[in-house]
Amino acid sequence: MEKIWAVSYSATGNTDKTVRTIAEELAAKLGLPLERVSFTKPSEREKEYSFTENDLVVIGTPTYAGKMPNKLLPDFQSRFHGNGALAVAVVTFGNRNYDNSLAELCAVLEGDGFHTVAAGAFVGQHAFTDELAYGRPGWSDLFEMKEFAKRITVKLKNLTDTSGPVKAPGDAAAPYYVPKGVDGQPVKFLKAKPKTDLSKCTNCGACARLCPMGAIDPKDVSSVPGTCIKCQRCVRKCTKGAKYFDDEAFLSHVKMLEQNFAEPRENETFL
Ligand SMILES: Cc1cc2nc3c(=O)[nH]c(=O)nc-3n(C[C@H](O)[C@H](O)[C@H](O)COP(=O)(O)O)c2cc1C
Ligand code: SF4
Ligand code: SF4
Repeated sequence: MEKIWAVSYSATGNTDKTVRTIAEELAAKLGLPLERVSFTKPSEREKEYSFTENDLVVIGTPTYAGKMPNKLLPDFQSRFHGNGALAVAVVTFGNRNYDNSLAELCAVLEGDGFHTVAAGAFVGQHAFTDELAYGRPGWSDLFEMKEFAKRITVKLKNLTDTSGPVKAPGDAAAPYYVPKGVDGQPVKFLKAKPKTDLSKCTNCGACARLCPMGAIDPKDVSSVPGTCIKCQRCVRKCTKGAKYFDDEAFLSHVKMLEQNFAEPRENETFL
């Protein structure tokens, strides 16, 4: 092993923090250099990333609708070339459930030519609301991530050519979770886009620069001509609090989550 990598798509920062914490601990414990790769902006997802069997790659994505973010799946499937590198699969989820996202990520990484040695699902504050998993990952989550990294180093010492891929729960081919509203009925908000409060907006352009889909018009940030995946990056990164969603179906889903999924969930790891 020559190098540790921390690679993530992370719209609101949880996955980046999680992947980084695990990778930093691995690098420290193994005495190896660490390189970070952000896979969040469109330009970052246009590049090709090739690894070798001397690399250990910690790679993460948030859970969207119980799976990997569907619009980014093709990038995860085509931009990474494992070439026999070892991989640690990491998903974050906002306290409802990670359902099938970790199993899907493991399958994608194996398909990319990685050998998955460990997998983990970690709780992060829900991108949609501060009321689910507020402040997570917090100190005890970071502690658990470091413990996970230590257990990975032990596993690496005992790894053989015949060690199989890590088994994560779930079904990589399962359908997406169907969001529900407060009345328990399915809601559709695929077409919802963020609005802009022009009395607060200073036209700094940050939202347009940061949108993972390049969906916001940089010349008129109140216009969203591209595909919005509801990642909340623009809402969370706008320091003026000018971006918001007012779609009724979306807000009903958020309320339903707040009513039913407030009980703190635990992180889960698999080796
Ligand atoms: C579009 C979308 C769908 C989501 N779906 C789920 C879900 O199915 N289950 C869940 O527990 N959290 C869900 N979340 C919450 C995220 O998984 C969670 O906030 C994650 O840590 C965000 O990662 P990031 O900060 O790296 O972007 C969803 C968030 C978004 C934006
Ligand atoms: S980040 Fe906020 S203040 Fe800046 S252009 Fe976007 S909406 Fe306006
Ligand atoms: S416009 Fe949509 S896709 Fe772009 S940052 Fe905002 S929520 Fe995410």
